[in-house]
Amino acid sequence: MDEARRRHYLEALGIELWRSRDASPVPVAGTADGTPPDPRGQPAPDVPPQRVAPAAGVTEPSPGEPDTAALDWPGLEARVAGCRACGLCEGRTRTVFGAGARDADWMIVGEAPGAEEDRRGEPFVGAAGKLLDRMLEAIGLARDRVFIANTLKCRPPGNRDPRPEELAACRPYLERQIALLAPRLLLVVGRVAAQALLASEHPLGRLRGRVHELPGHGIPVVVTYHPAYLLRSPEQKRQAWRDLLLARSASRG
Ligand code: URA
Repeated sequence: MDEARRRHYLEALGIELWRSRDASPVPVAGTADGTPPDPRGQPAPDVPPQRVAPAAGVTEPSPGEPDTAALDWPGLEARVAGCRACGLCEGRTRTVFGAGARDADWMIVGEAPGAEEDRRGEPFVGAAGKLLDRMLEAIGLARDRVFIANTLKCRPPGNRDPRPEELAACRPYLERQIALLAPRLLLVVGRVAAQALLASEHPLGRLRGRVHELPGHGIPVVVTYHPAYLLRSPEQKRQAWRDLLLARSASRG
């Protein structure tokens, strides 16, 4: 990506560009790979993409959960569309299966559909989705070149947090999506999705900043802030940018 484009994307992300004292623009590339300079004036260090060993994960369906192991993409999508495995089916307008390239290298996993996603049947189409698109663009990825899904395929009422039994009921769908896609990298946005996927109770702050392995799959996982949180806390965008660079380097490893 050339410098002008990188600057454009960082500005779009809302990441402040640093200027020298004579006010001429300083190149955003604080390091060879374009990491923005650290706010304290030090170049941001490259984070080595070392993988953290997985916790024991839940990959087998328990009795009563949908068995998805033999389904192809169309079969899985149809199964999700008719799912009644938990109470969320009562309140949904549409299921939100996931969207994007079914041969993508990157899979993005969020929490659950919101109101706009429930109406349109597509993940991340509201305000948070627009920021997610810009985050992906910042590292040269168009939305239609990744696959975007959620831990839940139906909207929880009032956007409340997913309940453990809802996550468990929906998990086989996400597991099958991951198996069919076999991505090179999972970028997980937000605490709920990160804790669910990594079978961890650690807070987001402890899950960010390193490369995990997806239990049962061995796929590298990088965790970052949920774009809805970044909309409320734009000062964290610089950290999110570092997560994206970590994800990019892990996907190449
Ligand atoms: N938030 C999510 O986690 N997923 C969506 O699809 C939309 C908002």
